[in-house]
Amino acid sequence: QQVALIAGQVGKDGYRHYMEKELHEHPVAIGQTLQRMIDPATRRVVLPELPFDPESLPRVSITACGSAFFAGFVGRYWLEALARLPVDIDVASEMRYRNPPLTPGGVGLLISQSGETADTLGTLRSLRAAGQHIMSVLNVEHSTMGRESDVVLGMVAGPEISVASTKAFTAQLTVLAALSVAFARARGLIDAAGEQALVASLLDVPSRATEVFAQGDAIRAMAAIVAEARDVLYLGRGICYPIAQEGALKLKEITYIHAEAYAAGEMKHGPISLIDRSVPIVAICPSTILFDKTVSNLQEARARGGRILAFTDAIGAERLRGIAEVIVVMPDVDPFVAPILYAIPVQVLAYEVALLKGTDVDQPRNLAKSVTVE
Ligand code: G6P
Repeated sequence: QQVALIAGQVGKDGYRHYMEKELHEHPVAIGQTLQRMIDPATRRVVLPELPFDPESLPRVSITACGSAFFAGFVGRYWLEALARLPVDIDVASEMRYRNPPLTPGGVGLLISQSGETADTLGTLRSLRAAGQHIMSVLNVEHSTMGRESDVVLGMVAGPEISVASTKAFTAQLTVLAALSVAFARARGLIDAAGEQALVASLLDVPSRATEVFAQGDAIRAMAAIVAEARDVLYLGRGICYPIAQEGALKLKEITYIHAEAYAAGEMKHGPISLIDRSVPIVAICPSTILFDKTVSNLQEARARGGRILAFTDAIGAERLRGIAEVIVVMPDVDPFVAPILYAIPVQVLAYEVALLKGTDVDQPRNLAKSVTVE
């Protein structure tokens, strides 16, 4: 009802669907979220007052549902690699009943656009009962989760009407990236210059995000291939693996095409048996440290007749010519922020396929914007 009320107030501004409008709002959502979290004078991340000392944190337990879960999955890579924190992550419906052994004084990190998802809210309460500090990353800050949290990190994405999450996802990633930088600094793992360098790469994202929309033709060429498929495999490695998962989820949600995401290195342990010309492979592979390994995974798929559709940068595109059938050439960014940027064309691809399939983009069958029952 609340969504319907907001939808009545928020127009489509000439776009065909709310989803199309919200995809174009990625740069603004990321930029506004950064404005909230970064002091422009010092180029330092500013967090609200914390009821714990990040230096002595025993563990962070991340939990969420749907796209927010994949944002959290990226957050795990950042918190582990940058802030050297032990991180556990699970979907809320599992975490809630797993009863993991938790040291009191850890952080329960909940991620939710709406702040009302029943599974995530239930997990919040069980993490609190287990003596965890509750920190939430929310778009709707005055939500039930907002009220029940010790610390709220607000993403500033604005109202998201389309059922499938878009700009809230990149805003969640932005918050988690900035949080990881702040924790790394607080734990003495980076100095002021290190923090400023990471902040600079974050501040670069909104304008690079705008450039992604110039790749519309290549994304539509991919969409034409994907729209004909019954099954699609999404591959990524490292921090881009959760982006592959987000891409597969988005495709399933709004086009009803079966899609599965795999860590590219795991393909040989199962899904390689599926590969033939009828199963397109969407690869999310910026030319970072795991690029060469991903390329050899893609060559294996290509050798079995697989049609490779790749999101990569200019250097990666050089290597993938002759392997990939369609390449979306992404702007060059620091590998640290690549997941934020690569999430955008992956969502645009799902949108373009939905247009070709003629599905109800903003209100896919059987789905709700906010699932308030368990
Ligand atoms: C629903 C929506 C998803 C969303 C998930 C979590 O399933 O269809 O798009 O990612 O809920 O929602 P939340 O509001 O907790 O982020």
